[in-house]
Amino acid sequence: MAVQINPSILSADFARLAEEAKAVEGADWLHVDVMDNHFVPNLTLGVPVVESLARATDTPLDCHLMIEDADRWAPQYVEAGAGSVTFHAEAAAAPVRLAREIRAKGARASMALKPATPIEPYEDLLPELDMLLIMTVEPGFGGQSFLDIMLPKIRRTRELINKHGLELWLQVDGGVSASTIERCAEAGADVFVAGSAVYGAADPAQAVRALRTQAET
Ligand code: DX5
Ligand code: ZN
Repeated sequence: MAVQINPSILSADFARLAEEAKAVEGADWLHVDVMDNHFVPNLTLGVPVVESLARATDTPLDCHLMIEDADRWAPQYVEAGAGSVTFHAEAAAAPVRLAREIRAKGARASMALKPATPIEPYEDLLPELDMLLIMTVEPGFGGQSFLDIMLPKIRRTRELINKHGLELWLQVDGGVSASTIERCAEAGADVFVAGSAVYGAADPAQAVRALRTQAET
């Protein structure tokens, strides 16, 4: 299971996004948090910024859409240049159709679950996805504390992935740091989003390397 580290630009300087993307070269993906002030109580960026960012960096973009009406908007993020598009289960009316549309347009299709949303109702949907994201904080803000209570859900999801013999990646997002990443890896996650733990560090690229080493052991 190859470990991937995806720095979240939510914790970067939004006036210097191209430089901030370059500061984490060596990361697997750049995690881009799109918030609409409806699905979550915060507002970040949208399609035009993703388009510009896709041109400004060679690191592929992992767009995490914390927006309502995902069915309508998610395909536009593929067109904007995202290599992976994550919609929330709670915000998609037709998740199977949406995952198929994202894949047909050429990106990896991913679905996220808020902390209170269980995985079990989505078991049959897993083959339609390239990645499942388990939120380990309430979505909306960086710098929150990791919810330990999510570890059994990560473990359960890994069991379901293995049971069905699927290749899909299991991402965790929220409060992932040097002090929590090993627990996530042990529970079965293989893609780690880290915002404040990377951009809050004196050397973000070194923070990415250190997190990777920790997750691999
Ligand atoms: C939270 C976002 C996260 C956030 C993580 O809603 O989805 O991607 O940037 O930030 P940290 O790593 O600081 O918890
Ligand atoms: Zn995120």
